[in-house]
Amino acid sequence: MPEAILSVKDMEKTYAGGVHAVRGISFDVMEGESVAIIGSSGSGKSTVLRCINRLIEPTKGVVRLKGEQINTPAAGINEVRSRIGMVFQSFELFAHLKVLDNITLGLIHVRRMSREEANEEAKNVLDRVDMLDRIDAYPGNLSGGQKQRVAIARALAMKPEVMLFDEPTSALDPELIGSVLETIRGLADEGMTMVVVTHEISFARDVADRVIYLDEGVVAEEGPSSIIDDPKTERMRRFLSSIND
Ligand SMILES: Nc1ncnc2c1ncn2[C@@H]1O[C@H](COP(=O)(O)OP(=O)(O)OP(=O)(O)O)[C@@H](O)[C@H]1O
Ligand SMILES: [Mg+2]
Repeated sequence: MPEAILSVKDMEKTYAGGVHAVRGISFDVMEGESVAIIGSSGSGKSTVLRCINRLIEPTKGVVRLKGEQINTPAAGINEVRSRIGMVFQSFELFAHLKVLDNITLGLIHVRRMSREEANEEAKNVLDRVDMLDRIDAYPGNLSGGQKQRVAIARALAMKPEVMLFDEPTSALDPELIGSVLETIRGLADEGMTMVVVTHEISFARDVADRVIYLDEGVVAEEGPSSIIDDPKTERMRRFLSSIND
């Protein structure tokens, strides 16, 4: 049995206000696998991703990366964040820095690369997301989809072992969604291990190896992406028809 790269075991999260957002979730992600997490608003999808890369701490449970527990004080938070790349709904690029410098910043300050090495790596990742021709642009002069591809490149530059995407296309105008999904699909095809929270059901069906359906903080269904066309539970069936409307 191959070992999981990312393993979430019995994760629970109760927020300070008392909301029990995640109620005992376990799943494994194998090397090269792409897993889509789907579910209604408030079902706990973002909470799970945020607990994985320690933007917040789970109330209970264990998160392992290559067998090593990462949700402990002993595991350095910066190291965890450089091993797990995360791309959010909004792009969070530095507006005053060119595309190139948005990418080299972390390489120079966290990875301790020289300026030359960092520039090389930035060109390499910008090419992968098809943004090399905008290397000297400022984020304000890019479309939302282009900004999001730069954000993906910035995460890739750190050579993460796993990438987490939290609704990477939900803030985009409809005509810009396709290019970002194509970029993510390309990474999946190259064998990047990833967990993608998405409302794009066709993306989950076509790109993901596996789908996890969250409902009220638990994994209500899980299986190959074919479960999207044949859900076992009435809740998942209703959820799918609600987003197809
Ligand atoms: N910082 C917070 N403090 C208190 N409650 C929170 C906080 N963040 C999220 N919640 C609550 O936890 C539950 C799960 O939220 P979460 O953001 O994980 O859902 P989601 O599945 O990502 O939803 P969406 O599809 O709308 O992004 C919700 O009831 C939400 O209101
Ligand atoms: Mg969310």
